[in-house]
Amino acid sequence: MSSNYKLLVKNAKQVVLICNNGEKYLTKHGMQNLCVIENGSVVIGSDGLIKAVGPAETIRSQFAESSFEKMIDAAGMCVLPGLVDAHTHPVWAGDRVHEFSMKLAGASYMDVHRAGGGIHFTVEHTRAAGSLELLASLSSRLVRMQRAGTTLVECKSGYGLELHTELKMLEVIEEARRSLPINISSTYCGAHAVPKGKTVAEATDDILQVQLPRLKEKISSGSLRVDNIDVFCERGVFDLGSTRSILQAGKDMGLNINFHGDELHPMNSAQLGAELGALAISHLEEVTDEGIAAMATSKTAAVLLPTTAYILRLPQPRARDMLDAGVVVALGSDFNPNAYCCSMPIVMHLACVNMKMSMPEALGAATINAAYALGCSHTHGSLEVNKHGDLLLLNTTRWEHLIYQLGGHQELIRYVVIKGSVV
Ligand code: NIG
Ligand code: FE
Repeated sequence: MSSNYKLLVKNAKQVVLICNNGEKYLTKHGMQNLCVIENGSVVIGSDGLIKAVGPAETIRSQFAESSFEKMIDAAGMCVLPGLVDAHTHPVWAGDRVHEFSMKLAGASYMDVHRAGGGIHFTVEHTRAAGSLELLASLSSRLVRMQRAGTTLVECKSGYGLELHTELKMLEVIEEARRSLPINISSTYCGAHAVPKGKTVAEATDDILQVQLPRLKEKISSGSLRVDNIDVFCERGVFDLGSTRSILQAGKDMGLNINFHGDELHPMNSAQLGAELGALAISHLEEVTDEGIAAMATSKTAAVLLPTTAYILRLPQPRARDMLDAGVVVALGSDFNPNAYCCSMPIVMHLACVNMKMSMPEALGAATINAAYALGCSHTHGSLEVNKHGDLLLLNTTRWEHLIYQLGGHQELIRYVVIKGSVV
């Protein structure tokens, strides 16, 4: 007998919906109540999309169990939307564990960078690495993220800083998108650092005259999909003027603007992003009040990265001020050789303890709002009919354990489901 539906998750103790009422994001009070169904079920269709979610009793009366390909009895478990990681740098070669001891001994991020380490170290190794080696390490990192509950992840290039390696990285990301179940939003980040021996003006020219035109050809021919454009807007890296021209050129090509701003120094990146219609700005440890107000008005998401502030002992991003002002606050792991963290549950935990977010706010920021930062909240980030059937099942009767428990989530996360398939 043929099955009409792919998966029934039935009788879960709690089903956390994320109550966005059809909105693309949550702000302020909307983040306080995530809508939890006690004793609920979820139906995923053969196309991998959610067909129904509601009280177990209602679902039972509407769907015959014989019409499901697979069933999970979730009694005693919690169901949550798959987590969304809105900021990662997962394609690279070369080990930077030695820099962690330098930083523990007092070196700042920029001390390491100026001494030829940091991004430059990774660029050297990534340029020398073959695509297969990069794909193998990327795949194992993505699988690790998936095991920790991430079902949609942003992946940046940015360790090439020249055409050949930037394209190599984006092609490796494209290959991972085709071969792995995890959903990927890809970002061209050729302006991640100024290559050694070049001035900012020369690096900007290379991006505008050489890299972006070639990227455009690749995208138009259908051989590559790229979703976002990124620049590291920072003192000693790309200034406001060069950031503006690169982001505008990317936007003209149809890419979403999603960049690094106001991290180590106040640069007015937030105001620039709001003016350009950026979908998201990451970091923002040094954002000003004016920057927060501009982002609240433009509904540019603030992607906050608690791991980076923690590891570099930076001031904490001002999550409370942003939430109070009505900014769309999202979260990301910033996975990279500086912040080696694949786990969004740990990111949410740090956001709560260090940035003073509540657990519902952290979950909203790591689901619907992170999806919004990637332009995907119409398809991802909450359990709503017609969205992707991406969800987590926790071995516990209260969903807050996902944030409360610090590490060891392999035991807690019983199943990860992407488009209706257990992965
Ligand atoms: O988001 N701030 C710039 N870029 C990365 C770090 C990249 C690296 O150190 O390799 C970040 O933290
Ligand atoms: Fe980053």
